[in-house]
Amino acid sequence: MGRFSEPPDPLFQAINTSLAFDRRLWPHDVAQSRAHAKMLAGAGIIATDDRDAILAGLDTVEQELATGEFPFLASDEDIHMAIERRLTELTSAGARMHTARSRNDQVVTDVALFTRAAAQETLEAIASLSDALLEVAERHVDWPLPGYTHLQRAQPIYLSHHLLAYFWMLQRDRERFEAVVEAASVLPLGAGALAGVNFETDREAVAAELGFASVSPNSLDAVSNRDFVFDYLAAATTCATHLSRLGQEIVLWTSSEFGFMTLSDAWSSGSSLMPQKKNPDAAELLRAKAPRITGHLAALHGVMHALPLTYNKDLQEDKEHLFDSVDTLLDCLRAAEGMIRTARFHREAMATAAGDEAIAATDLADMLVRQGVAFRDAHGKVGEVVRVAEESGRPLKDVAVEQLGPESEAVLEQASWLESKVSQGGTSLPRVREQLEAARALL
Ligand code: ARG
Repeated sequence: MGRFSEPPDPLFQAINTSLAFDRRLWPHDVAQSRAHAKMLAGAGIIATDDRDAILAGLDTVEQELATGEFPFLASDEDIHMAIERRLTELTSAGARMHTARSRNDQVVTDVALFTRAAAQETLEAIASLSDALLEVAERHVDWPLPGYTHLQRAQPIYLSHHLLAYFWMLQRDRERFEAVVEAASVLPLGAGALAGVNFETDREAVAAELGFASVSPNSLDAVSNRDFVFDYLAAATTCATHLSRLGQEIVLWTSSEFGFMTLSDAWSSGSSLMPQKKNPDAAELLRAKAPRITGHLAALHGVMHALPLTYNKDLQEDKEHLFDSVDTLLDCLRAAEGMIRTARFHREAMATAAGDEAIAATDLADMLVRQGVAFRDAHGKVGEVVRVAEESGRPLKDVAVEQLGPESEAVLEQASWLESKVSQGGTSLPRVREQLEAARALL
């Protein structure tokens, strides 16, 4: 017990322990301890015999953790203490492993390793969903549907164009997670508790062994820093928010009112009461999971706000926000992929909705612009045509031909509304094909 004369209060112990959630850091903690022990021996700080005993002990520890046979004790406060305690049971050299290291630089190093691996796994899931979107876009290159603003039919577009919008969002997410990998690639280990350690350690060697690109230049900053966790959470918030919009569109499109899309049975659920129902629960969850990650980001900002340097126990509260965000985002990315890859789209229903003549009003206005009318005036004239058609119940085409001239007829052919969007990034087929090519090249 050292300097303490009574044991910790059980409630204090309960809120102080982090083992229940930080045990998943074990592979990183073992890797770190191996690198640290090798460095200590290399720098002549511990004997090579002790190093070998530590490495052999860590092999056993790793084996026990991997198979679930590791003997945890109720008194293990966190995974770091548990591993060191077990190692020391296995070999007396274990008591030397913590030389020139503090739990403060040890913890943040594990969290950096975890964050880097999580960002890499997230990048793989993003690439896989991107591939699914691209593949489904390629299969539906020229399927028209309405594009919406204010959830009102606005202008027709191709399904490929719509799906590719999500592809490009995900490419920005990819860049953000690449930046997370970089932010988590500065080694904190070697900072000690806060001020550095009393030995000439070789931090570069540890960095190289653990795959860090560089070594933190300031020990105080090293043990206080959780910026890379912020970076993961911020990138995850944006990415999950993108997926929430996809989820919402799937919910709309699979409704009878839209009828644009059917999810595979594997991604749908039934109702306990209404036998006819096929519900898009997974898409609804894509919608609802995003704010949970946003909440984790806000919570960590709360934890870090005005926190004095350097380590404070508050920092233990970084982990659950990070872990739950990683798990949630990976689930969302993989669920979105599963839904998109196996969904069926309904050409007829989409084309009928896209065939609503009123949605070519902009094209009629542009026809007048080509004839020399100023756009604002053209906008007014076409607006009137739409009003007359609506009030009289006559087809838009008839009123347009009557009021704007016979050229209106060709403009109101559906293919021309779509193929007229020739500007770079527009929905015309040549432009969509450019996008598809650029997207393929990126993957
Ligand atoms: N479980 C703790 C954490 O995650 C370990 C760090 C404790 N360090 C200390 N000096 N008390 O932050």
